[in-house]
Amino acid sequence: MKIILIGYMGSGKSTIGKSLANKLNLPFVDLDDTIEREIGVSISDFFETFGELKFRRLERQVLHKIITEKEQMILSTGGGTPCYGDNFMLMKSSNAKVFYLKASIKTLAARLIDEKNKRPLIRSIGKQNLPEFIGKHLFERNNFYLQADQIVEIDEKSVAEVTERITALL
Ligand code: S3P
Repeated sequence: MKIILIGYMGSGKSTIGKSLANKLNLPFVDLDDTIEREIGVSISDFFETFGELKFRRLERQVLHKIITEKEQMILSTGGGTPCYGDNFMLMKSSNAKVFYLKASIKTLAARLIDEKNKRPLIRSIGKQNLPEFIGKHLFERNNFYLQADQIVEIDEKSVAEVTERITALL
């Protein structure tokens, strides 16, 4: 079984991924962590030195490698992963079940406000402007996110509840 979690930054892809992997007894793979291991620096530092385009190329390359090599896994992606190049097509054609962890702008802004510095795309956005930025960004990205096989609302749900919901949908 291959399960891929997609969704905006702060939607809980890594936390839910680990919880699901635990519950289903499957290997867990975090795309961002895998990329960081490969490059030996944080994604933030990589963005700063080489820019977003180089990051997207690398992200695609690592995603392809993981998807082709791993038969069984829970894969947590980065927020932008399904929105670039042929990444989404690759996910869909790999027999994976793709779940979109859907959160409201309010939930995302509340979660991201204290973690902005770890995320290059929102690092320079002022706290006041964060909800507006997320809203616009989601508007662009929803086109991809909403093509997932299943959409799971995560607002006000615990990790255990979201994990349970995904398991029930398998
Ligand atoms: C990104 C999300 C990040 C990371 C990179 C770009 C995005 O992952 O891949 O900073 O484009 O939304 P998380 O969603 O795990 O924060």
